[in-house]
Amino acid sequence: MAKKSSPKRQRSKPATKPSAKAGNGGGRIPLRITDTTLRDAHQSLWATRMRTKDIVGILDTIDNAGFYSLEMWGGATFDVCLRFLRENPWERLRMIKSRAKKTPLQMLLRGQNILGYQHYPDDLLDRFVALSCRNGMDIFRIFDALNDNRNMEYAIKAVKKHGGHAQGTLCYTISPVHTVEEFVRIAREQVQMGVDSICIKDMAGILSPISAEKLISALVANVDVPIQMHCHATSGMAVATYVEGVRAGAGAIDCAISVMSGSSSQPAAETMLSIFDETSYRASLDRDALRKICKHFTELAPKRQLSSQPLNPIDPEILIHHIPGGMISNLRSQLQQQDALDRLPEVLEELPRTRADLGYPPLVTPTSQIVGVQSVMNVLAGERYAMIPQETRNYVKGLYGRSPAPIASAIRKKILGDEKPMTGRPADKLEPILPKITLEMEDPTLINEEEDIISYCLFPEQAKEYFQWRALPTEDRPPIPANLERKKEDKPAAKESAAAPAKPFLSDRDYQEINELLAKVHDLQLSEVTIRRDDLALSLKADGMRIGQTPVDETPRKTAAPKPVEPRQEKPEAAAKPDEPADGYDGPAVKAPLNGTFYLSSGPGKPPLVKEGDTVQAGDPVCIVEAMKLFNQIKAPSRCRIVKLLAQHGDAVKKGQPLVAIEPM
Ligand code: CO
Repeated sequence: MAKKSSPKRQRSKPATKPSAKAGNGGGRIPLRITDTTLRDAHQSLWATRMRTKDIVGILDTIDNAGFYSLEMWGGATFDVCLRFLRENPWERLRMIKSRAKKTPLQMLLRGQNILGYQHYPDDLLDRFVALSCRNGMDIFRIFDALNDNRNMEYAIKAVKKHGGHAQGTLCYTISPVHTVEEFVRIAREQVQMGVDSICIKDMAGILSPISAEKLISALVANVDVPIQMHCHATSGMAVATYVEGVRAGAGAIDCAISVMSGSSSQPAAETMLSIFDETSYRASLDRDALRKICKHFTELAPKRQLSSQPLNPIDPEILIHHIPGGMISNLRSQLQQQDALDRLPEVLEELPRTRADLGYPPLVTPTSQIVGVQSVMNVLAGERYAMIPQETRNYVKGLYGRSPAPIASAIRKKILGDEKPMTGRPADKLEPILPKITLEMEDPTLINEEEDIISYCLFPEQAKEYFQWRALPTEDRPPIPANLERKKEDKPAAKESAAAPAKPFLSDRDYQEINELLAKVHDLQLSEVTIRRDDLALSLKADGMRIGQTPVDETPRKTAAPKPVEPRQEKPEAAAKPDEPADGYDGPAVKAPLNGTFYLSSGPGKPPLVKEGDTVQAGDPVCIVEAMKLFNQIKAPSRCRIVKLLAQHGDAVKKGQPLVAIEPM
C-alpha cells in the first residue's frame, strides 16, 4: 500500500542530508518540523486517549500545514487503542495514510521491544516492520532504553529492508558516563548500522541549551546524517535548547500544536515558527493552517484532557534530580500502596545511588520502572538489595542489554551469586514466535488479517478482548467497556511514558471512567467540570445541575448520570477479603515483606513453587509477592517443611502477614 516514491508526494521523501551542511549560500536554511500532536503530545498530556475519529476532520489541514513528518503511531498509542479505546491501531494507520498524502508518517519503535515492554524475537520484529511499511509508515524512530545498539540493530535492518527511513536515537540522560564522546560513539555505531538520521531524545526535558550546542556540534562534526531533536518542555528549557541545537546544526525539531504543547509535551510549533522567522532558518509552516489545527484541538480538549493540568507547567525539581515527572508520580503511588508515602524524600535520595549501582541507565520505559521500584524496596526493606524483584535480576543478568557503565560488582554478586551475566544480544536467545503463535490461539476465527496476529503477539490479552468485541454484531457492542483495568497478570512497567504527566491518584480505570462520563456529558452541554484533588473527586455539572460524581478512592464507585453509564463490574477490592486466613496465626511462617498480591507460582501455567508437606532449603523460593507491578520471590529463611499455605493464589496481602506456615528443620 505504501508507495514510497509517488511523484505526487512532494515532501514525502525524508531528508537524507543534514540541512546545516547544505550551506547557507543564497537562501535560508530549511528547518524541518515534525508534528507530535497525534502521538507524543496526547500521550504526554491526555494519557494517550485521542481517538481516530478525533483526527479525521483535521487531517487534511495538518497534511497541508508544511510539517516535515507526522508522528502519529507507536509509543503507547498501539497498546492504548487495544486496551482502552476498542480501536484497531492498524486501522488508524491506514486511515491517516489514506488522507495525509503529502506528509510522511512517523512512528516511535522501541527497538527489540517493538511496542511492548519486553524483548521480542526477530521474526516478529521483521513482520511488524514489514506490515507497518505496507500500511503506510515512512519514518521509524528506533530507540533502546539503554542505548544498547545491539537492541536496535535488527530493527534498523528490518526498516531498511522494507523501504522505510530508519532514524537512530540517543536517549539523553546525565551521568558520569554519558559524555559527548560516548554519545558520538553510539551515534557513529548507529550510522554504521545504516540509520538515515539520528534523533536526540530528551524524554525528561533536561537537555540544556549549552549542552545541546556541545552535543550537536560534536555529532555534526562526526556523523554524516541529519540530526533531529526531540525535547520535552518539562523543565522549561526546550525552546531555548531547540534554538541552540538548530544553530549548532540540527536540521529538524519536534513540536506540537500550541494547545497541546508545553509542560511534559513538546514546545509549540507556532512559537518555534516565530522564533526562526527572524533567523537564517526557514520553517515553512502555514500559520493559517496552524490556527485551524489549534482551534480543532482546543475544542476537543475538554473531552479528552482527563487530568487537570498541573498548576505549575514548569517542573523546576527535574533540573536538580533528573527524575522524570511521570516516574515521581509512580513512586508516589507505589509508596501509597505500601502505606509509606512519608518516605518519598528517602526514596528520592536513594534513587541516584541505585541508578549508579546499576550502571546509570537512562530513566525511560522499562528501566525507569526497574530503578524506581528497586529504590523503593531498598528504602522500605531497611537494607539495600535485601529484596530484589525478578526484573532487577533480569536486568543484572543482561536480559535487557548492556548497562551504560558496569554494574557495581558487589551488587551483581549479591543479586546473581556465581551465575554469569549474559553478554550477547538478548534477542539471540529468543525462539521465533510466529510459527507457533497461531497454534496457541483459542479461537483463530477472530483473526481477520495478518496484522491481527502481530497485535496478538504484542498484547495477547488486550488484542483478544478487542477481537471478541469486534466480532459482535455492531448493535451488540458496548460503546467502550467501562472497566478495562490492567489485569494482574499483565507485564509490569506498562506505564505509558516516563515523561507522562503527573497523575498520582487516578488509576487507568479512573481515567477510563471519567473519560466515558465526560464524553457523555459533553453532548449534554457540559457547563462545569471540577476535579478536586483534595478529596480525590470529580464532579460534573450540565446546565447548572450536578449530573455526575466520581469518587476515585478505594470506596465502591457509584456514578449518577442522566443517561445510563456503562455498568461496571466491581473488582473485589484488595483489602476487603472477608476470610483472611492468616488472622490469628502466629507460628513460624514466611511473611509478606510488602503490601502486594500473593502468588504460588511464577506465572500462568507454571506449577506452584511449593505445596504442603514439601521440604525446602534455605533460600529456596516459596512464593511470590507482586508489589508495585514487579514480582518478588519470597525465600525460605532456613531449611524447613511447608506446613500450610495461609493465603490463596491471587490474594491481596499486607506487609508482615504470614503467607506460608513453616516448620524449621
Ligand atoms: Co517524547
